[in-house]
Amino acid sequence: MNPVCLDLGCGRRPQPGFFGVDRFPFPEVSVVADLNRQPLPFVDNCADCIYACHSLEHIDDLLPVIGEIWRIGKPRARVVVVAPYGYQGLNLANPYHKQFFNEHSPRFWTTSDETGVAAVEYHHPPHGSSWGLGNSDHSDIRFDLRCRRMEFLYFDEYRSLNPDKLRYLRRKHSDVCDQILYELEVFKTTPGIDAACDVGISYPDWLTARRGPLPMTWNNLLRIVWRTLRTKLHP
Ligand SMILES: C[S@@+](CC[C@H](N)C(=O)[O-])C[C@H]1O[C@@H](n2cnc3c(N)ncnc32)[C@H](O)[C@@H]1O
Repeated sequence: MNPVCLDLGCGRRPQPGFFGVDRFPFPEVSVVADLNRQPLPFVDNCADCIYACHSLEHIDDLLPVIGEIWRIGKPRARVVVVAPYGYQGLNLANPYHKQFFNEHSPRFWTTSDETGVAAVEYHHPPHGSSWGLGNSDHSDIRFDLRCRRMEFLYFDEYRSLNPDKLRYLRRKHSDVCDQILYELEVFKTTPGIDAACDVGISYPDWLTARRGPLPMTWNNLLRIVWRTLRTKLHP
């Protein structure tokens, strides 16, 4: 059977091979649905893979939507969320962005300490030394999305710095990191329901181009020199 893959808040460019879900009936959208209205029109345990790129920051209340993603996902379903990194000037000013994302966000989507994220990424003494903070306000969250991997996309002028420097700068200053990506897994044991198919996600070209150190082309070099000079001339 073909895997069922959903792209939540797909807009006009759903991921190839995914059913696009959006509140607006663009021709590219397969299912028109408002993420703010739960339950979403999908049965339990139907999705092998769920992708939400620059859509979850728009919703009114995050945890009910995370709960829906977990409900719809098969056991072990892969979930990918891409969002603006919180401390980014345009994100902070955007009146359509109602949710804030940083390295701590997925800690509130599980109560488990099992994660693929290195402790150095979320170490925040003296607060919350363990990963899962889902019941930190004594709520019973009733879902379990476990973060397997986290990735940061940095503005060009920082991209070639080493990981320790990048981590330090993105935490201390705004407009260093502009986007964050989480790869998560639906964790549940549902008797009689098969685990999700292993779906390889292919990321959009624009995202792939933003990963890792900036390629040292003449064009990029000139852009960085120009930006640095401009900042020095008009600090
Ligand atoms: C910034 S666009 C991103 C589109 C696409 N995912 C992409 O990466 O190009 C945000 C999308 O989320 C959709 N969206 C925002 N709030 C929504 C909601 N409550 N329910 C469903 N879709 C929503 C918008 O209609 C829009 O298409």
